[in-house]
Amino acid sequence: MGIQGRILTGHRPTGRRHLGHLLGTLEVWARLQEKYECFFLIADYHVLTTDYEHPQLLRENICECLLDWLAAGIDPRRSTLLLQSAVPAHAELSLLLSMLVTVPRLERNPTYKEQVQQLGLVERASLGLLAYPVLQAADILIYRADTVPVGEDQLPHLELTRELARRFNALYGDLFPEPRPLLSPTPRLTGTDGRTMHTSYGNTIPLSASPEEVQEKVWGMVTDPARIHPHDPGHPEVCPVNAYHLALERETAEPVAEACRRGEVSCAEHKRRMAALLTERLEPYRRIREEMAGREEELWDILRQGSRRAATLAQATLEEVRSRMGLPRLRQEDAGRPLNLTGRLCC
Ligand code: TRP
Repeated sequence: MGIQGRILTGHRPTGRRHLGHLLGTLEVWARLQEKYECFFLIADYHVLTTDYEHPQLLRENICECLLDWLAAGIDPRRSTLLLQSAVPAHAELSLLLSMLVTVPRLERNPTYKEQVQQLGLVERASLGLLAYPVLQAADILIYRADTVPVGEDQLPHLELTRELARRFNALYGDLFPEPRPLLSPTPRLTGTDGRTMHTSYGNTIPLSASPEEVQEKVWGMVTDPARIHPHDPGHPEVCPVNAYHLALERETAEPVAEACRRGEVSCAEHKRRMAALLTERLEPYRRIREEMAGREEELWDILRQGSRRAATLAQATLEEVRSRMGLPRLRQEDAGRPLNLTGRLCC
C-alpha cells in the first residue's frame, strides 16, 4: 500500500511521558509510520508559553520526551523527529500567519481561556500564550501536512490552523492543504485517583516507572467505592483499575470484570494482575534509559539530523510564503541566489 499522506504531530516536552500518552498517542503514532510520511515535533517553544521560569529543566525534559518516543517505536530512520527551536522557519511562519488572525479570535480560543483561568493569569497572559495556536498552525502548515493526529483537547487549535490555511489560500493563492485531525480511538484514562489525569496532580504512571513504582502506584489506585468487602459484587464500569486493564489488554480484562461483578475477584487481586501486566508492557521504557545512560549526545544527534532534514522542506515553504506576501528576496538564505555586481539580487 502506498503512502496515504503527510502527518505532523508533536508534544510539548514537559518531562517523562506517562501511561495516558502511551495508550492514547504514542502507540498510535508508531503504527501510523507504516502508512504516512511522518514528522514528529518536540515543541520546545510551546513550553515557554507558560513555563519560561524554569529554563534549567527544558533540555533535560526534551531528552526525557525523546527517550520515551524512541522506546515506543517512533523511529528516526523512518520518520523525521525534529526540535521546533532548531528550525527557525516555524517562528517566522508564525509571525507571518499572525497577520491573518485577529486578537479577539485568539481570545475566544477555549484552551487559552482555560489556561488563563487555571494559571491565574487574568491580567498577565503573555502575547506568546495568546499566539500559541498560531505557532501550532505554523508547525503544521510549514510542512504542508494534511493529517494531524491529536487528542480532542487540540481540536480548537486544528480549527484555527484550517482557518489560517483557508485565509492564506484565499488571499495569496492555493498553497496549504487544510489539515484534518485524526482522533485517537482510545478513550481517555482517568488518573490513578479517579480525577483527570495530569502530571501536576501526581496521578500519572510514568512510562519509565520501575516495577516497584508501578506496584506502589497501582496499589494506591481507587476502585469501586461501593465495594467494602473483598467478596462484595463490584461495578467494574466505575473502577479505574478495570479501565486501565481494559486499555492494556481487553481479552484478559473482560473475564476479570465479570468475575468482579460476581464478587469472585477482589480489588487487591485485580490490582496485582493489572500491575503485572503493566510492568511487562513498560519494560522497553525502563530499558532504554539503561541503554542510553551517559549517551545524551546521541539523542541530540537524532534531533539535529531530523531538524536538518525538516529545515530544507520548511525553508522551501517559507520562501514561497514570503514571496507571495510580497517580501523581497534579499537574505543570504534566499535559496543561494547570489547578489550580482550592482548589488541587486538575481532572481
Ligand atoms: N499543542 C500540542 C500539545 O500540547 C503540542 C503541539 C505543538 C502540536 N505543535 C503541534 C500538536 C502541532 C500537533 C501539531 O499537545
